[in-house]
Amino acid sequence: MKRNIGSRLALYPTPAVVVGAMVQDRVNWIMVAHVGIIGHDRVLVSMHKAHYTNQGVKAAGRLSINLVSEDMLVRADAAGCHSGATWDKSQLFAWTMGEAGTPVITMSPLTMECVVTDNYETETFDNFICSIAATLADEAFLDAQGRPDFARIRPVLFEMPGYSYLRCGERLGLCTRLGKDVPGKGVPDTAGTADTANRAGEGGRQ
Ligand SMILES: Cc1cc2nc3c(=O)[nH]c(=O)nc-3n(C[C@H](O)[C@H](O)[C@H](O)COP(=O)(O)O)c2cc1C
Repeated sequence: MKRNIGSRLALYPTPAVVVGAMVQDRVNWIMVAHVGIIGHDRVLVSMHKAHYTNQGVKAAGRLSINLVSEDMLVRADAAGCHSGATWDKSQLFAWTMGEAGTPVITMSPLTMECVVTDNYETETFDNFICSIAATLADEAFLDAQGRPDFARIRPVLFEMPGYSYLRCGERLGLCTRLGKDVPGKGVPDTAGTADTANRAGEGGRQ
């Protein structure tokens, strides 16, 4: 039986990303995990107003979102432990300036160069709404059609209650194939047991 545990942020895991921005002519990196997708052409980056990076994002109106791979996790974590206000993070990652004017981490499998189009401010957070000017991905992480292959990228995930990083899992099946043949009417939901729909899903594993 479910227990009501109150009003909790429970929408995890989310991808852990390193956001990059120029702050007063020096590159700065910050770990951010409160990110989201808005429609099909905007992303959200939620950053506490007290963070040093915010002033650079506001001044330039742009930022980069660098997905975190497992081999860059320790350095990415360092970007979340120290503030650029007191600790120079500019040497944490090798980087290049992207065509949209944002710092691109060489080691990151995929970087989105973003332009800030809006800021949905709450009392303590800047919630940057961004369009995507360019997406830079290592060839090794693209499929035959040139699309990012997240089964290969395996971005590191974050969860808040345990304040820990999680490894990306395995592909369970293809969307809109798993449920396609489940009959609509008269199929009881046998909650709590492995129902027929779930068993049908096993056949869809790719
Ligand atoms: C795993 C992890 C996730 C984090 N996610 C966020 C986040 O979503 N938003 C935020 O404002 N700070 C987040 N932080 C905290 C900042 O990364 C941290 O305070 C950082 O030192 C701020 O850097 P700055 O002052 O140089 O901007 C996170 C930290 C860690 C370790």
